[in-house]
Amino acid sequence: MSSAARSLASRRRGPVLLLVTGLATLAACSGGEPASTPWAFPTGWMYSASVEPVTADSGMVVSTDSIASTVGIAILKAGGNAVDAAVATGFALAVVNPEAGNIGGGGFMVVRLADGESYALDYREKAPAAATRDMYLDEHGNLTDKSVVGHLAAGVPGSVSGLWAAHQRFGVLPWADVVQPAIDLADGFPLHARLAGGLTFSREALARFPSTAAQFLPGGEAPALGARFAQPDLARTLTRIRDEGPDGFYRGETADLIVAEMRRGGGIITHADLEAYTPAWRDPIRFTYRNHTLLSMPPSSSGGATMAEIANMVEAFDLRSMRWHSPDQLHVYVEAARRAFSDRNEYLADPDFVSMPLDRMVSKAYARERGADIQRSQATPSSEVGPGLGPSERGGETTHYSVVDAQGNAVATTTTLNSWYGNGVTVTGAGFLLNNEMDDFAAKPGTPNQFGLVQGENNAIEPGKRMLSAMTPTIVLDAQGDLFLVTGTPGGSTIITTVFQMISNVIDYGMNVAQAVNAPRVHHQHLPDVVVYEFGALDDATVAGLETLGHRLQEREQGETDAYFSGGVSGDVQAIQVGADGRLQGWSDPRRGGKAVGW
Ligand code: DON
Repeated sequence: MSSAARSLASRRRGPVLLLVTGLATLAACSGGEPASTPWAFPTGWMYSASVEPVTADSGMVVSTDSIASTVGIAILKAGGNAVDAAVATGFALAVVNPEAGNIGGGGFMVVRLADGESYALDYREKAPAAATRDMYLDEHGNLTDKSVVGHLAAGVPGSVSGLWAAHQRFGVLPWADVVQPAIDLADGFPLHARLAGGLTFSREALARFPSTAAQFLPGGEAPALGARFAQPDLARTLTRIRDEGPDGFYRGETADLIVAEMRRGGGIITHADLEAYTPAWRDPIRFTYRNHTLLSMPPSSSGGATMAEIANMVEAFDLRSMRWHSPDQLHVYVEAARRAFSDRNEYLADPDFVSMPLDRMVSKAYARERGADIQRSQATPSSEVGPGLGPSERGGETTHYSVVDAQGNAVATTTTLNSWYGNGVTVTGAGFLLNNEMDDFAAKPGTPNQFGLVQGENNAIEPGKRMLSAMTPTIVLDAQGDLFLVTGTPGGSTIITTVFQMISNVIDYGMNVAQAVNAPRVHHQHLPDVVVYEFGALDDATVAGLETLGHRLQEREQGETDAYFSGGVSGDVQAIQVGADGRLQGWSDPRRGGKAVGW
């Protein structure tokens, strides 16, 4: 065990986690009282409960792609810290996981240093200066698909600026060293099943724009598994970023190529938009849940605040007296999520444009008020649940990675192009895809977006504004204030409920990190008024029990599936836990086939 792991170990107190497979009957969670509530996955659930996380002493990188996780670990071994490794992993994902990893999108990063300080970095895309409130409506006032597909859907990308800002502030290795592995990959690597599967799966969408087809479907087909896959335009763009920092993206040749692409397809991002882009350092949302402290993302992501509201309402219930995934327990989750999402959709938005009752929303006092009408025996229809603080005054594809280094520095990053392969447009000559993040605005307030979220005026389109996100990169500390969990996921609106359920599985039910990730999930977002559950997640008796309580349920359709893209599931959690022995325990969600790599 490294000295750092030993020092983590010596700081960890509390009972040892007992691993019980299958029908787990007893577990204890570090930092809390022992849990003795039985839990079991439903018969036939596609992911095993008999899993043990990957363990390591000196560092861990967990991402949706084995190559990217390996790049991150190489950076740690070369003397980089968790932020260096996160930045290198982010650039690598832009090459090997182009459906979500990106330089043409944006994201959020929560950092907690070994000295106990924590930070939140918002590098969400912004609306271009020429954006207007009704830009996605046709002449009859109806929503078009232009917020989702094609050039007009792109917000001004934030990723390069964000990764640079994180590295400038905390990185210890030279910038060039953390960008270089991505350049090497863009020069060519044997196509692995993870990407080959994704390209084949999305062939139709990729064929839509010629620059995208040329890069990802040479000769009209996805390259064969094992064939050398090179992205020379992307390699040149990454080289400019390596040599010039953000200027290699927001100015000069790359900026020229982006603006030329905009002109080609009716987009509106200008040189001035690119030059003006800046990320924002913000204070993490900080709240407690059963003696643990959670650090998560504040607006322009709704993730932290909405999760805080859910957690604060759930905390009032003795979950451990309820069987895991019993109708009673799921009812509590759902009723809390229904109320929290109603508030989210009304109030939350870019804090640089809108004032929000944020402190109130995340307070325990508000949760007591807000949750007071949760009835144990009856669902409250969403039609009867409005935003809890009155009307506001102004009346895919994503990926997450978690890193911990030997010193105990921790980074949780979620980044996205929004939909799979973003807006579908590859910047000609620059080799990267653009996002379709503009769809996360309320393009027509009161009308659902692609995730079915019905959002209000606060999140309407305005020039230079950041669109509201659900991304929830989160770091959890134990009762002693020591690092306990680093976690996050993609999944659109389901991100918030997925992250909370994963954390609750560990804290309330004593699951190990792998079991907590593998466990089936449910989701509710106020509107539509339906409990959505993963394929096979609930057995008939549980569905019937929830229906008796007045809930409407919908099972996700299994749909198209291949080895790496299972239909019928939601999320792709990448998590690291510090075990009771101080060792790092990592687990990558089997839903998309990523990898935890330890050192
Ligand atoms: O920021 C958001 O909330 C969305 N753009 C996230 C999209 C997403 O997670 C799609 N992936 N599955």
